[in-house]
Amino acid sequence: HMESWSPLMNAQILEDETVNAVANEVGKTPAQVIIRWNIEHGVVVIPKSVTPSRIEENINVFDFALTAAQIEKLDNLNEERRIGPDPAKYSGH
Ligand SMILES: NC(=O)c1ccc[n+]([C@@H]2O[C@H](COP(=O)([O-])OP(=O)(O)OC[C@H]3O[C@@H](n4cnc5c(N)ncnc54)[C@H](OP(=O)(O)O)[C@@H]3O)[C@@H](O)[C@H]2O)c1
Repeated sequence: HMESWSPLMNAQILEDETVNAVANEVGKTPAQVIIRWNIEHGVVVIPKSVTPSRIEENINVFDFALTAAQIEKLDNLNEERRIGPDPAKYSGH
């Protein structure tokens, strides 16, 4: 089962204009949109936060869905940019 690695891109993706536009459309936060996008793709997502209000925010993603058009907009943000090692190439040491 695929798991998202740094699902929030260490919070960098939360500043993205498209992510914020979709968040406004669905009345959710950028983090909730990104977490939901992972879920819509069947990807296991474990966001990290030390902030209680954010932990609560991050679990509240089961009362809405993204449309196919919104998912496609988010899919199209891919730039093959990474903030960690490429799992396909990482040797484990
Ligand atoms: N085992 C693995 O597969 C694996 C893979 C990648 C990373 N990691 C480890 O997991 C840890 C976290 O990695 P990451 O930073 O890349 O994870 P991440 O989940 O992509 O991002 C976490 C960052 O987002 C912030 N954040 C979380 N929820 C938020 C929300 N609702 N609104 C705004 N900001 C929010 C957190 O801030 P606060 O905590 O300050 O709230 C933190 O700065 C690291 O220790 C890393 O080494 C493990």
